[in-house]
Amino acid sequence: MHKRQFPLPLVLITAVAALALPQTGVLARAPATGSVATPREDARADAWARATLARMSLEDKIALLHGRFLALVAPAQRPAGITVGAGYVAGNGGLGIPPQVATDASLGVSNLMDMRKGDVATVLPSGMAMAATWNPSLVREAGRMIGSQARAKGFNVMLAGGVNLVRDPRAGRNFEYLGEDPLLAGTLVAAQIEGIQSNAIIATIKHFALNNQETGRANASVELAETAMRESDLLAFQLGIEGGSPGAVMCAYNKIGGSYACENRFLLTDVLRRDWGYRGFVMSDWGAVHSTEALLAGLDQQQGEQLDKKRWLSTELLAGVKAGALPVAAVDTAARRVLRTMFVHGLVARALATGPIDYQRDGAVSLRTAEEAIVLLKNEGDMLPFPATVKRIVVVGGHADIGVPAGGGSSQVTPVGGFAKVETVKDGAAAGFARKVWGGTPPLDALRRAFPTADVRFFDGSDPDAAAAAASNADVAVVFAEKFSTEAMDQPDLSLDGRQDALIDAVASANPRTVVVLETGNAVAMPWLAKTPAVVAAWYSGQRGGDAIAGVLAGSVNPSGRLPVTFPASTQQLPNPQLPGSGLPPPSKEDRATYGVNTNSPPFTIRYPEGADVGYRWFDRTAAAPLFAFGHGLSYASFRYDGLRVSGGRTATVAFRVTNTGSRTGADVPQVYATLPGKPRRLIGWSKPVLAPGESKLVRITADRRLLGTFDSTAHRWRIAHGPVGIEVARSATAPVLTGSAIIAEGTIKP
Ligand code: BGC
Repeated sequence: MHKRQFPLPLVLITAVAALALPQTGVLARAPATGSVATPREDARADAWARATLARMSLEDKIALLHGRFLALVAPAQRPAGITVGAGYVAGNGGLGIPPQVATDASLGVSNLMDMRKGDVATVLPSGMAMAATWNPSLVREAGRMIGSQARAKGFNVMLAGGVNLVRDPRAGRNFEYLGEDPLLAGTLVAAQIEGIQSNAIIATIKHFALNNQETGRANASVELAETAMRESDLLAFQLGIEGGSPGAVMCAYNKIGGSYACENRFLLTDVLRRDWGYRGFVMSDWGAVHSTEALLAGLDQQQGEQLDKKRWLSTELLAGVKAGALPVAAVDTAARRVLRTMFVHGLVARALATGPIDYQRDGAVSLRTAEEAIVLLKNEGDMLPFPATVKRIVVVGGHADIGVPAGGGSSQVTPVGGFAKVETVKDGAAAGFARKVWGGTPPLDALRRAFPTADVRFFDGSDPDAAAAAASNADVAVVFAEKFSTEAMDQPDLSLDGRQDALIDAVASANPRTVVVLETGNAVAMPWLAKTPAVVAAWYSGQRGGDAIAGVLAGSVNPSGRLPVTFPASTQQLPNPQLPGSGLPPPSKEDRATYGVNTNSPPFTIRYPEGADVGYRWFDRTAAAPLFAFGHGLSYASFRYDGLRVSGGRTATVAFRVTNTGSRTGADVPQVYATLPGKPRRLIGWSKPVLAPGESKLVRITADRRLLGTFDSTAHRWRIAHGPVGIEVARSATAPVLTGSAIIAEGTIKP
């Protein structure tokens, strides 16, 4: 059944026009290629794993189930010829099993604390930035690039694939992740994993699951109904696993329903293995294992074992099996999973080796990603791009003279060219671990190149009066505004660091032609918004960040990023106006002894009042107006949507035409949202057509049926009710342009 939304003639006209139009996008789901094993490869992997296992002693098998953080091993004791990274699992030459050598993470090959003296790598823009591209092929290419660098540096496991949903804009690691929507994040992580794994390297989707904030990451317990989990965080993982086939899943630090993620039978066995049929292996996060019994719940490999209280999956396991307390069969199962995964992903066939890296070429991948990630949030009176004739530009703040900022923690990459500046974090939960860094191409240099005849002056912002005075005499002013984000620590509020709000206010008051470039890992508040005609979200923009930003300001790049998160107007609008656990005292000695090295608070419970209605869906449900909506982003072109056709039945299929009505070539991101009766709207698809002025393309989107249903935890299935579903073709979660509806047939889908 399908319901018509407009008189027949228009349908016909559109249908005829559609035949002549190039088609684009379809739903941005990653095709299962490259990293996904065919049944034949699967069978070969199983046979090899079985035969190899038959030749192994108990000790040999257990050797595959635990890894060391090599940086913590004295250099003299390190295995020869192995690149030092986050993880090392010994191989077995006699049996043809190579070592597993692991590096972080999703933004490039990290080199935390300079563990490989002076080693650099191409830095991608942050995960949040990659999500803002809404472009799976670009994210796949970015993944391919960092995976190839990891391989060339001697790694064969990459701890990349972070897909925890952004539930709170104060969470410290959001910059590593892919936004607040399970379809967007799941689709993009699948693409990233595919790209990485095209290099015969294992990617690791993480942190499974519900590790959505840093406060309490070692010991907070998330209480969330199964239905809500399945429709939100778990769905992002499910889509990522289906589309990307990651070799490994990393279980998280936190607890879910009172049980640690790394010994959570519901997550690791019931959901992952039974329901999703996952065939890779589960590795722990570094310092996340608390028992040998974790093996029985579904953990296969204890990584970073020196960070845990005991060598749970080595000496403890061996003793347990020998004493008859743990079955050999459990060891066999885990070892078989590790072995077959190494075979499937090419680790057995392709030996570890180092090789040359073309940093020039790889930098161009980072640049393209940064360009597509930039979101033009506001552009009153076409303030941007600056005309080529602009004579005097004042650039203020954000260390724009030396580089772009990056997030802190295990994902931090030392850029090609090294850091321009490093500050240690002295206070708070990340002190001693995280570093504040700047690097990549400086925006100031890039602006000078983009405007060769202009007088471009820089003020570091430490003296707001001086910056404002200079701005008052300039044609335009650009303020770079930063906010540091890091693993291990959340943020107290939505404000920019230090006194930057006052600085922006002063400059914008002195010159109404002031543009703000936000370099943040999260949504931020903008108390000065009414005073500035243009605002650009550039995130942490990576290796070539300055070039990308200058390109947007000068107009050689037409911005096409869209927000992957909601920018709230205030924390009062959030499901938890106060960040869970934020009011607690520091952890006691006993807390640290109980919960381990990552303990940063006493234990507490995290509740998510929004349930599955994360981000924009919560704003929809509570009728709250955000500062900037999920999906929002402007262009220097303009786009018309028309010719909507919606059909129902088994699922919703939505087709419409996008036309560039502007005078510049640009990419648009039309989004399709569905509304089930009584539920907030949700994203069911999007496309990113590139259109020349006057050009039209037909977009066709077919919804994943699970997005049109609800998860019935009693029946243990997705359930789709018969009835109408509202459909919107929109510019953002709050800006529908075309509306229609479809009658969807009743049905159920396996979990
Ligand atoms: C992080 C992981 C990372 C691991 C290894 C942990 O602190 O949570 O994301 O992969 O360290 O560095």
